[in-house]
Amino acid sequence: MAETLALHGGTPVRARLLPYAHQTIEEDDVQAVVAALRSDWLTTGPAVEAFERAVASAVESRHAVAVNSGTAALHAAVFAAGIGPGDEVITSPLTFAASANAVLYLGGTPIFADIRPDTLNVDSAEIEARITPKTRAILTVDFAGQPCDLDALGHLAHARGLTMIEDAAHALGASHKGRPVGAIADLTTFSFHPAKLITTGEGGMVTTNRDDLAPRLRRFRNHGLESDFRERTERGAPYSPMVDLGYNYRLSDLQCALGVSQLSKLEPLLKRRAAIAERYAGALGGMELVKIPAILPDCRHAWHIFPILLEIQRLSAPRDTVLAALRAEGIGATVHYVPAYWHPYYEALGYRRGLCPRAEAAYERLLTLPLFPGMADADVNDVLAALRKVLGYYAQ
Ligand SMILES: Cc1ncc(COP(=O)(O)O)c(C=O)c1O
Repeated sequence: MAETLALHGGTPVRARLLPYAHQTIEEDDVQAVVAALRSDWLTTGPAVEAFERAVASAVESRHAVAVNSGTAALHAAVFAAGIGPGDEVITSPLTFAASANAVLYLGGTPIFADIRPDTLNVDSAEIEARITPKTRAILTVDFAGQPCDLDALGHLAHARGLTMIEDAAHALGASHKGRPVGAIADLTTFSFHPAKLITTGEGGMVTTNRDDLAPRLRRFRNHGLESDFRERTERGAPYSPMVDLGYNYRLSDLQCALGVSQLSKLEPLLKRRAAIAERYAGALGGMELVKIPAILPDCRHAWHIFPILLEIQRLSAPRDTVLAALRAEGIGATVHYVPAYWHPYYEALGYRRGLCPRAEAAYERLLTLPLFPGMADADVNDVLAALRKVLGYYAQ
């Protein structure tokens, strides 16, 4: 007889909820922030430059511009690409709303191209089919931390004079055919939210190899001013002309000091994520009710999240019931993502369901299992035990 689910009053697999993500903060991270607090600069000082240099070196890009969130990074990238009213930007529907919102911020129109059913990344053929004379850029998203088909997308973009923007919020440390994410697209954006691969509390970065775009990014994060306070202080200049309409998107020295410390540990953090993903894949490979999105051989996956697809037609309950049952068992599983254009705001703009059938079908089946470097093997075993228990109950 099947075990009673915690959802129905049975004993949960875990007493305390295992979150789907959690930051890894160690004593050296704390000390790095304390040292910054005791320094002369709390913002836009030497730690910002140090963090930018460290990220540029890690991803092998010519430029890195720090901003105060992944969303600000997307906004800055779309601005640097020159997007404005009437311009179309083709993007993935299977992403956090921020990716497409950045296009709206500048008056552009997001156009959603469907995903590949295997990797769940945007499909280059679907992008190609949506290119019109109004298209100005392609904004790809490396879902879960696996790079998109960056070669094909780069060729597609550049053959038509489009800018390629890559939302790599999930993919710091990933690579595609031996090239690091961050050095491939015209503009790549990263997020340092606590759920991400490294954190600065809130934070983001744009990397680019384009010397023409870097100054636009720098101005955009600082009100559109030609120089920042530190540069002016060094030169003794009292004033800087404002040449663009920018924002205060500056990342503080406190956060950048944390970023430098976190980045120095990126490799071990990624290795632990990969080891957990491998453990999951090994166990789930034999589970009939679960499918794992395809992992392409020529990529390094950063494993920001571990999404699975449920064989929903073989279960007696919808995904959300499975999710609730897992939570009752103490497993903080979640869902990435509701198709961006399903959000009420997008519906009000006129986007309709049915636009990207593969993304919509995937959404009904997707579930994200907990994955973060601080998870012990016993935590992974708890997730697997809860999944077996819940799917065993709903199997039909
Ligand atoms: C794909 C993607 N893009 C952009 C963002 C926005 O990043 P942030 O939360 O740092 O603004 C996120 C964060 O959840 C994300 O997952």
